[in-house]
Amino acid sequence: MTFTGTEASPPTALCANPVVRDAWHAVAREVELASGPQAVTLLGTKLVVWRTPNDEVVAAPDRCPHREAPLSHGHLESGCLVCPYHGWTFGDGGKCVDVPSAAEGVPPPPRAHLTTFHCETRYGLVWVCLGEPTAPIPGIAEEHDPAYRRINTPVEVWRTSATRMTDNFLDISHFPFVHVGTFGRAQDTHVPKVELTDLDSEWYGYRYEVKANNTDLGSLASGQDEEVVERAMTTGFNLPFNVRSTIHYGTGLSHILLLLSTPIDDVTSYFTFVVWRNDDFSISAEEVIRFDLAIGAEDKRMLEQLDGVLPLDQTTLVSVQADKCSVEWRRRLMQALAAT
Ligand code: FES
Ligand SMILES: [Fe+2]
Repeated sequence: MTFTGTEASPPTALCANPVVRDAWHAVAREVELASGPQAVTLLGTKLVVWRTPNDEVVAAPDRCPHREAPLSHGHLESGCLVCPYHGWTFGDGGKCVDVPSAAEGVPPPPRAHLTTFHCETRYGLVWVCLGEPTAPIPGIAEEHDPAYRRINTPVEVWRTSATRMTDNFLDISHFPFVHVGTFGRAQDTHVPKVELTDLDSEWYGYRYEVKANNTDLGSLASGQDEEVVERAMTTGFNLPFNVRSTIHYGTGLSHILLLLSTPIDDVTSYFTFVVWRNDDFSISAEEVIRFDLAIGAEDKRMLEQLDGVLPLDQTTLVSVQADKCSVEWRRRLMQALAAT
């Protein structure tokens, strides 16, 4: 598919690579669609996303085929998207269903229909693929487990690349430094030997144990009162930019995190995360995620101080044993990018 005139900025190498274009990316929360059409930018392409009369979520270029008005500035009438300029109206599948200026009985011209992109909803999020999907949206088993509740968080804009974010989410050696204000223990700087493995059929990464400071917010999240709690964790990736972390406490409480980095362009990204917990619902969702949001803010503050994109080749940066998972993620991503 070729689109012209809709790009926010010229696509650069990573955003233009078919591996990235053929992947699913989370761009918005489903709940945001209730307030009308949403403007999002994915891989340099401006999109409008809305829910149609048949409850289908559609993603299309944010440009009306008539005179290029941004459709995201329009409104919904019975689920149909009405352009703010001359009122052309779009329904299921982006089909133009009304041209107000046309005489009665005259159908919209064939080229008035929007060219749509692959779009799905999963985990309370809207996912878009600009190319042709080569793999499904990564699976989270707990989504179908009635013992777990799901909590969604706002979609934030981070001034950093999705590659730097993914690298950060796979890394635990920054905990005692970046996260010393939340759960990081300044004295626990040593990372035991990292053994990489298939965590399951979709996630590749490692298992480890950490002691975490259990402050007020942490105590709400862990459900425990001790000053320090032990967490049995896994962290793994699913290409290109999906990371899953699982936290298991001795009490039987499990806290699963899906950390999603979506390139707006090569140096700006959306960040959202989804939490699944097998708790007793005695703590509100807002309180549960306050701790994770504070941790995310610490990562954002750090990453926004780094310039440009993460060099993907293994010779530019110096890595150590503790970086093994990120090194393997970069190796696999590079291999996939190079193959195209
Ligand atoms: S620009 Fe959209 S109807 Fe004219
Ligand atoms: Fe972090």
